[in-house]
Amino acid sequence: MPARVMHRLPDDSVLRRKAKRVPTIDKSIQRLIDDMLATMRREGGVGLAAPQVGVSLRVVVLQMPGEEPVAIINPEIVKRAGEREVTEACLSVPGYGGEIKRSISVTVKGQDRNGKTIRIKADGLMAQALEHEIDHLDGVLYIDHIESQDKLHKIETETGAEGM
Ligand code: NI
Repeated sequence: MPARVMHRLPDDSVLRRKAKRVPTIDKSIQRLIDDMLATMRREGGVGLAAPQVGVSLRVVVLQMPGEEPVAIINPEIVKRAGEREVTEACLSVPGYGGEIKRSISVTVKGQDRNGKTIRIKADGLMAQALEHEIDHLDGVLYIDHIESQDKLHKIETETGAEGM
């Protein structure tokens, strides 16, 4: 049974903690990834970070519409370029969406589910989701990047930005 997404909680919650690096990629990490992918799909999201299911480890999963899923362990942004305004929403902050600044492109380094080093260069929604999920690993939510209250809106569940 896949874990439930944890919604926004007090400041001492796992969502606000810096997640730990994964020292060894074993079966339990692969199970965590499968569980996160199932949770992300059920919630209709394009990305999910382990702290969102209550696990304080540096693991993220992403799936862009029409593409294969990607899991990254110990992801690090090694390069960012440009800046643009995006509309964003988070599965852990239901009912809201907002406009924030994100990079135009990012390069992320990490490991795949077999421990192989991977490097991903992305732009568009994938770059946005990578920054969003890696923020989650540092206890940061997109609402922390909101510059003024008029940039945060209540949204209908069926519309608005992609959840991540
Ligand atoms: Ni999120």
